[in-house]
Amino acid sequence: MQKAMYYRDYLQLDKILTAQAPESCQPGNEPAHDEMLFIIIHQAYELWFKQILFELDYVCGVFNKPAIDDNAEDLNLVRHRLNRIIRILELLNQQVGILETMTPLDFLEFRNLLTPSSGFQSLQFRLLEARLGLQMDERHQKDYYKRTNEGGFDQPDYSTINKTEATPALLQLVNNWLERMPFFDPAFWNDYTPKNTSPTPYFFWNDYRSIYQSGLTERETSRIDDFDAVFFGKPSTHTAAQTAPIAPAFSAEAMRAALFIMLYRDFPMFQASYQVLDSLIEIDHLMANWRHKHLVMVRRMIGMRVGTGNTSGAGYLEGALSKHYVFRDLSSLSTFLIERKKLPRLPVALIRKLSYPPTAAEG
Ligand code: HEM
Repeated sequence: MQKAMYYRDYLQLDKILTAQAPESCQPGNEPAHDEMLFIIIHQAYELWFKQILFELDYVCGVFNKPAIDDNAEDLNLVRHRLNRIIRILELLNQQVGILETMTPLDFLEFRNLLTPSSGFQSLQFRLLEARLGLQMDERHQKDYYKRTNEGGFDQPDYSTINKTEATPALLQLVNNWLERMPFFDPAFWNDYTPKNTSPTPYFFWNDYRSIYQSGLTERETSRIDDFDAVFFGKPSTHTAAQTAPIAPAFSAEAMRAALFIMLYRDFPMFQASYQVLDSLIEIDHLMANWRHKHLVMVRRMIGMRVGTGNTSGAGYLEGALSKHYVFRDLSSLSTFLIERKKLPRLPVALIRKLSYPPTAAEG
């Protein structure tokens, strides 16, 4: 007969609840009351990072399939699990408030005992960033990662980050999924009469481009160059520094599909795809929110001192905050929207494709 399950054993509480060993309580040190909170809050973060990584693995697995039926359970489950990640990230944002009940003086009681470790060395956090699509080359102060004895990673962890980066991240997988969108198949566009036939070979987008351009104010006229760069891959006329904020990680083809989904999101077939894109923007947003809350908390806690992990502290965190957006291409799509009422009418064949198939009763 199967042994009755016992709560403590099922959750392996013997391991979890004996894993808090404040350094300040070691012989020879002065016990610091707040170190317990400091340890538990980090451990709670790590457990949630684990759950986020678990959900991300599932999501990447779906996008890794050669074909995804946008109208079947796959995409719905992706949407559901991305939403779970969002809820967890909201919670992680709130947890900063608990840590803020510790004062800078309370922290000073045990801070020196931590050196040179810090949250910088959170492998799971780095894997989360990498699974989303952040590459080592794009990381702020990437040299810090290799400084094994000065707050960076040890060799096994560093190589785990590199290995994870070498597998397709969500960013690439979503790019590939968008590129496969079949909506520009000429079969759907036979009864579309373009108003503009240049400057690109894409009839619908020429019309869209012309409407977009006519809505730009005098100060925004150069946005049309950005439009051509982002959606048609034309070399930008801007300097490298000016284009940096919108230099796309997505291909022009994927960006056209993403914009098309944003524009026509009210069609039933686009609902799930739109929500997936919106969730990715939200995840980026919540990650940035967390980085910001953490930064403000760090400024309050250690002022302008260097971090225990040997970075410049708040200065480093500010750099990471501004650089480590992964889905900024998707959020930048709002730059290129036009008013709903000005949207080109889609051809009937495409509208049929975008609507749910008629039920048997409707014939
Ligand atoms: C008293 C509270 C905290 C202070 C003063 C603090 C301070 C810092 C500092 C100064 C850094 C930069 C690396 C360094 O030089 O040390 C850092 C990085 C980091 N910390 Fe904290 N931290 C605190 C709490 C937390 C908590 C609760 C977490 C949750 C896991 C966390 C996660 C991280 C992460 C992930 C990084 C890397 C951020 C990035 O590279 O974008 N920290 N922290």
